[in-house]
Amino acid sequence: MSEQVRVVEVGARDGLQNEPASVPTAIKIELIERLADCGYDTVEATSFVSPKWIPQLADAEAVMHGLQRKPGVRYPVLVPNLQGYVRARAAGASEIAVFTAASEAFNRKNINASIDESIARFEPVLTQAHADGVRVRGYVSTVLGCPYQGAVPLTDVVRVAARLHALGCGEISLGDTIGVGTPGKARAMLRAVAEAVPMDALAVHFHDTYGQALANILACLEDGVRVVDAAVAGTGGCPYARGASGNVASEDVIYMLHGMGLQTGVDLDALIATGQWLATQLGRGNGSRVGQARGAA
Ligand code: HMG
Ligand code: MG
Repeated sequence: MSEQVRVVEVGARDGLQNEPASVPTAIKIELIERLADCGYDTVEATSFVSPKWIPQLADAEAVMHGLQRKPGVRYPVLVPNLQGYVRARAAGASEIAVFTAASEAFNRKNINASIDESIARFEPVLTQAHADGVRVRGYVSTVLGCPYQGAVPLTDVVRVAARLHALGCGEISLGDTIGVGTPGKARAMLRAVAEAVPMDALAVHFHDTYGQALANILACLEDGVRVVDAAVAGTGGCPYARGASGNVASEDVIYMLHGMGLQTGVDLDALIATGQWLATQLGRGNGSRVGQARGAA
């Protein structure tokens, strides 16, 4: 295995978008700044989606304006359409992510559009982003199962990933939105997508709903993926996917990677402290096993 794995920290977005309590803007800003100080090169910051759909992130402008950016750190934000792109750029975002799913039923609930409609919405976003020199990631949700449709054919996952890549998304993140995948299926899915999109343009995004995320990540690392999404303190989920609570915890991923001799650039002790702090701010338990173990020491 090569020595470096890039962990994309999604806690401030995927984590906080699903918190029942509203989190003050100042806490969000402090979280993002603390995460950047942990050594990440990418800290997903927020979403410029409809505040009616995701009220938890309605303060996206204030978050972006309040943030003290650390040189060299990337702060991508989610945008669902051109309106979101314009808002994101006005707030100073220089990197974005668009998102769709391999399942029609999920897309309808999540973004009120079919897969084709969602991609049609992304076309002007990608054109503008390209003209502006803005890097774009593409998320594909429900790659290992859908809460509404059940099984998702691999051919659908490959087709959507390849379309986003062809549209100009430089990185494609493959999301097991409801955490139902197991290692053999995760590996087969990654292999199938890697036939159509180069492995070095792929990332994996596992939710830990069924406790399979670390095993799935390991299987995908063995197959060559080198970008892994994770959320500090295991926060989050997707509000349109029942049971999707709990992204894989960043502390647990980084502990595993470092234990395997892989480098991430992230200071695990600082990350654990950030996870403990966040759990206290949210008034909930720490969803990271490593955080629990170290916190109790
Ligand atoms: P819609 O209601 O179909 O949109 O929502 P519309 O175009 O008909 O607009 C309706 C209203 O929304 C209008 O306002 C628009 O101005 C407004 P009104 O005239 O009624 O006052 N609007 C917006 N406002 C602010 N920013 C915008 C925006 N766009 C429209 N960008 C829409 C369609 C896509 C906007 C909506 O469904 C939406 O925002 N969905 C967001 C869903 C979301 O954020 N889900 C979570 C992220 S995905 C995820 O977590 C999965 C991932 O982690 C990977 C994985 O785990 O699998 C990435
Ligand atoms: Mg997610």
